[in-house]
Amino acid sequence: MAAAGSAVGLGNIWKFPYVAGENGGGAFLVVYLLCVLLFGMPLLMTEFMIGKRSGKSAYGAFRELSGNNSWQWLSWLCMLTAFVIMGFYFVVTGWCFNYLVEAMTNAFSGFGTQELTAHFDTIQSNKLRMVGFGILPVILTAGVLWFDVNKGIERLSKILMPLLLGLMLLMAGVVLMMDGSSAGMRFFLRFDFAQITPQVIMEAMGQCFFSLSIGMGALITYGSYMPKGQNVIATSVQVIVLDTLVALMAGLIIFPAVFAFGFDPAEGPQLVFVVLPAIFEQMTLPWLSSVLFFALLCIAAITSTISLMEVVVAFICEASATNKKPLNRRQAVLIVSALVIALLVTCVFLPGVFTYSDLVSACVMMPLGALGMAVFVGWKLPKKGVQPNEKWLKRWSRKFYLFVLRFIVPIAILLIVLNGLGVFKLSN
Ligand code: PHE
Repeated sequence: MAAAGSAVGLGNIWKFPYVAGENGGGAFLVVYLLCVLLFGMPLLMTEFMIGKRSGKSAYGAFRELSGNNSWQWLSWLCMLTAFVIMGFYFVVTGWCFNYLVEAMTNAFSGFGTQELTAHFDTIQSNKLRMVGFGILPVILTAGVLWFDVNKGIERLSKILMPLLLGLMLLMAGVVLMMDGSSAGMRFFLRFDFAQITPQVIMEAMGQCFFSLSIGMGALITYGSYMPKGQNVIATSVQVIVLDTLVALMAGLIIFPAVFAFGFDPAEGPQLVFVVLPAIFEQMTLPWLSSVLFFALLCIAAITSTISLMEVVVAFICEASATNKKPLNRRQAVLIVSALVIALLVTCVFLPGVFTYSDLVSACVMMPLGALGMAVFVGWKLPKKGVQPNEKWLKRWSRKFYLFVLRFIVPIAILLIVLNGLGVFKLSN
């Protein structure tokens, strides 16, 4: 459940629709689903196994499993990636809290398409307010780690996640009944091969890593909490199914609404924040549904930020363990929170940093981290006689898993990133 809480977040509801909208809809969706199968499954299993076997987070895990410090760079990469993501993730979580408060006070009720777009710009122009709303989730996340109440949050999200899915189902129903929504369905579900470019493939792969929280060590940490008997394969499948379901549902809500109301699907990061309020207006209980939705979205975001901050906190604790004065968890939480707030302020005041960290983390840093982990478990560990010896994997074909991890995953990641960045051209 914790891993699902990490995976399901703004990546599914905010990022997926906006990136899909910018990258041609249906074409993006197909490539995305292929990436989930190709990368999601093996890499999720890999991260869980690294954590489960070592019982440690990234820093300690790579050291323990490799027996020396030669793979320490990978844990540094994980830690840096978590930082880069947190900078903009907290900004967007701040937007969610802003909209939650506004939903409570009916601030956008009755707004038309243009007013909603203008409203988002007005909110953005008040930078100090944005910083304030960004700091709020930082404090909440730090509080959860400080008081060590992750378990409680996990239990809570067991109830809230199905509630979120249920509400989204209802919203999809309302949206699909609207005039003009079928054009959105076509946009989202119709596959057009001509739309697939190297850029689309790279963004789809990046979205897959980001949405599943792969390639930056969050799942290594969660794997380290796994009891011995836990089935890594079944857990990975559950996380993937849930995460993909929420993203698909978000697409089925946003795109039909985009076309019914006359928004632009390639609107960018503000897409869901201008479209969602328009949808609530169409619902039977607009106030209740908008408050409930934004509240659930804020919680979904917090269960993700917990796993992000945990990566850095665990890194600091494990890395400083050999020092004369090791840092404890609470000191680490304070340090990380201060740094994250600095980063968040930078993202609010310099929009370029926001856009850049969004793109670079998903399309470069996480793929690189995943590549490192695939090589680590596929090539390095077997040389040391460490085999992925999960009970279920033995039965399920370890050879196939290792083949995918050794050859398919690294080569595909390299080709997709280099081709997407235009370093060399495969097609188009
Ligand atoms: N997967 C989360 C989401 O979709 C974001 C995330 C990325 C969380 C990496 C943790 C680690 O919102």
